[in-house]
Amino acid sequence: MNAINRQMTLRRYPDGMPRAEDFQVIEGAVPDIGEGEVLARAIYLTVDPYIRVHISPSMSVGYAPTTPLGAPIPGEAVLEVVRSRHPEFREGDLVAGFGGWQDYCALKGEGLRKLDRGLAPLSAHLGSLGMPGLTAYAGMTKLAEAEAGQTVLVSAALGGVGAVAGQLARIKGCRVVGVSSSAAKCRWAVEELGYDACLDRTAPDFRDQVAAACPDGIDVDFENAGGEVFWAAFANMKAYGRVIVCGLISDYNADAPPPGPDQSPNLLRTIALKRVVMKGLMVADFWDLRPRFLQEVGGMIRDGRFKSREFIVEGIENAGLAMIDMLEGRNFGKTVVRVAEDPLL
Ligand SMILES: NC(=O)c1ccc[n+]([C@@H]2O[C@H](COP(=O)([O-])OP(=O)(O)OC[C@H]3O[C@@H](n4cnc5c(N)ncnc54)[C@H](OP(=O)(O)O)[C@@H]3O)[C@@H](O)[C@H]2O)c1
Repeated sequence: MNAINRQMTLRRYPDGMPRAEDFQVIEGAVPDIGEGEVLARAIYLTVDPYIRVHISPSMSVGYAPTTPLGAPIPGEAVLEVVRSRHPEFREGDLVAGFGGWQDYCALKGEGLRKLDRGLAPLSAHLGSLGMPGLTAYAGMTKLAEAEAGQTVLVSAALGGVGAVAGQLARIKGCRVVGVSSSAAKCRWAVEELGYDACLDRTAPDFRDQVAAACPDGIDVDFENAGGEVFWAAFANMKAYGRVIVCGLISDYNADAPPPGPDQSPNLLRTIALKRVVMKGLMVADFWDLRPRFLQEVGGMIRDGRFKSREFIVEGIENAGLAMIDMLEGRNFGKTVVRVAEDPLL
């Protein structure tokens, strides 16, 4: 094959918030495939917060080992099979798999999932119908114990996880309060996603706004942010409330602990006095929920009860910038990068 394989790699590890110069596109060969593998061409690449963990040696954890400099940045992608040596895949199949930020990848057939062309736009398979959506579905159906009439607060309210968590809570009959970072994003959360209210976390009186929007307290804090957003929510938890600790994006670019006194006594005192329960959420515990999740959330997207919108950035050369924009909250919905023509458009 004569094609060139463009790969978005790291030139150096970011120090704090990544910068455009930390990334570089290099050109490599299209890989060969062995028995049981497919060669796939990327159509959409995901830009997820967990990728930030992969590109920083000091943050390396078991599920996200550090990416070597010069190697394609890891992440899931929507792909088209261009050659197959696996009995279950044929040229032209549309699949999702961990191809990384590059045009072509060789993947074992076992690591791929075939995509239903009729369910939703292809890009949704990295967002509402992908890993972020499954995370929200697992948190809301297995951990949150939210009931109709209860108040659910969702941070990063428009994103891959938040938009699904918020809409599932709304459909359940909860009062749903979103948190985002601008008036325009908050308006979209209310008008398009059906949040009852959405608060701008950058407002100087944000804490007061949380108290005013949740006059009876918060039953479920679906926590995607951490930091100031978490503390504002936590101060308003209702007795027996649940905090679903999904993500702490406010901390992902921090190079030092926050200044000020140790907050753990405040945390533990409130947990005890209000009998608040904190539950950690890791999507890896819930892969087996995927068929039910696709049926339920996919069905609601198809019949129009559920909105799914991706923030589509064009071109692999812009993948690093797209990640910076996502970390700084400039994305309107789940970020994906389109690197080739979408055959379904
Ligand atoms: N536990 C798991 O298994 C699992 C799986 C997937 C994702 N997650 C976590 O879920 C969270 C959301 O992920 P996602 O994929 O849905 O991302 P996303 O919401 O599509 O994009 C990230 C959003 O985070 C918000 N944000 C950025 N900096 C922030 C800050 N300093 N304080 C508060 N909010 C900030 C911004 O939203 P606004 O501008 O709207 O505030 C930004 O748009 C992340 O923390 C991620 O790590 C966890």
